[in-house]
Amino acid sequence: MPDVDPDAPLLTAQAQLSRAVEILGYDAGLHEVLATPRREMRVAVPLRRDGGGVEVFTGYRVQHNISRGPGKGGLRYAPGVDIDEVRALAMWMTWKCAVVDVPYGGAKGGVTIDPHAYSSAELERVTRRYTSEISSMIGPEKDIMAPDIGTDERTMAWVMDTYSVNRGFTIPAVTTGKPLAVGGSLGRPTATSQGVVHAARATLADAGVELSEVTAAVQGFGKVGSHATRLLHEAGTRVVAVSDERGGVHRADGLDVPALLEHVSRTGSVVGFGDADAIDNAGLLALDVDVLVPAAVEGVLDADSAARVKARWVVEGANGPTTSEGDQVLADRGVVVVPDILANAGGVVVSYFEWVQANQAYWWTAQEIAERLEQRMLASYRAVSELARAEQVTLREAALTIGVRRVAEAHLIRGLYP
Ligand SMILES: NC(=O)c1ccc[n+]([C@@H]2O[C@H](COP(=O)([O-])OP(=O)(O)OC[C@H]3O[C@@H](n4cnc5c(N)ncnc54)[C@H](O)[C@@H]3O)[C@@H](O)[C@H]2O)c1
Repeated sequence: MPDVDPDAPLLTAQAQLSRAVEILGYDAGLHEVLATPRREMRVAVPLRRDGGGVEVFTGYRVQHNISRGPGKGGLRYAPGVDIDEVRALAMWMTWKCAVVDVPYGGAKGGVTIDPHAYSSAELERVTRRYTSEISSMIGPEKDIMAPDIGTDERTMAWVMDTYSVNRGFTIPAVTTGKPLAVGGSLGRPTATSQGVVHAARATLADAGVELSEVTAAVQGFGKVGSHATRLLHEAGTRVVAVSDERGGVHRADGLDVPALLEHVSRTGSVVGFGDADAIDNAGLLALDVDVLVPAAVEGVLDADSAARVKARWVVEGANGPTTSEGDQVLADRGVVVVPDILANAGGVVVSYFEWVQANQAYWWTAQEIAERLEQRMLASYRAVSELARAEQVTLREAALTIGVRRVAEAHLIRGLYP
């Protein structure tokens, strides 16, 4: 038997589903249907390097469930991408879309590549070849992509263009998180982070606390973490530490966030920001803060690191930052965890708005988007926290119960073909 890492994201996702199935009392057959990805594709992605040679990468697209609508999920470029990680991320997308009640199933894609090691022209060729290889699987009614780790709005423009050119006309709704110039939505670049802040505000309010009264630390300073830091700062929260994959910075009095953002746009990292002490990622997770926002990668809060968490609230900007064991440790210690499938759902909510706008070729104002996002995040949070209170379960168990139940209902009402 090969050694299986108990903290691997797919095992975490499967354990979470098992818990929801147990709460819901479903039978083994329905459990298996819910656990099994509907479609998976693995493709070779050959790249002609700028210097002439050729390298071959592996790409994946997984549609975990499409009972409630087309697959929806990001595209990740990272060296650690493998089929099981993509399966886990696709499964989380399924429950997330159901929790915030957008009419999608869950999907995810990835290419095993370190995007920092390749030029923009090379990444464009990788993206176009990957898109061509999986193009039979994607489309506005089938499976809609968005940015994730290592990809951005530019990547989404390349995917959209490749898909459109091959069909002979422009099809903006095949991706979301696109630049405004090609049918993107106002508010999408900050939507995930805005949703994290709505979720944080709502969970603090349950304890009679406001964002302006607390301190926070944010792990990961990419698309989600950087905007979350700025929005928390604007809400009056004292953000005392941030980090990225190269390290972190800490200042107990609170970081000068505008100066930090300027430093990052100049240097590409939070590391080296003056007027703050260096801190590593493990140290950041263990800081004495009120709110901890993991917004980087999976599995950072395992049994050991969770035991060192001093925060009272963990608001999951990242997907799967807490392992099953870590989750248990946090619950036993009374730490409130706002789970990924709720806390970071603002991105898919505004992706849904972008898809609706693209399908109708009619664009909403920034205010309409901001209001509808807030409404949906707060309504989803309320439903989850009310269920958690009523059933005496954690917010994660409540969110999973709502998400899994909605997917199971769609599956059961459609019936099993043939
Ligand atoms: N982009 C979205 O709209 C969105 C939506 C929902 C969830 N998420 C999730 O949020 C997380 C971050 O995504 P993103 O889009 O901001 O990615 P990104 O690539 O823009 O940023 C990732 C950040 O994490 C840092 N990082 C990477 N490995 C790290 C490590 N081991 N320790 C500490 N920091 C590390 C990187 O340096 C970078 O600052 C992922 O889990 C992603 O799936 C993203």
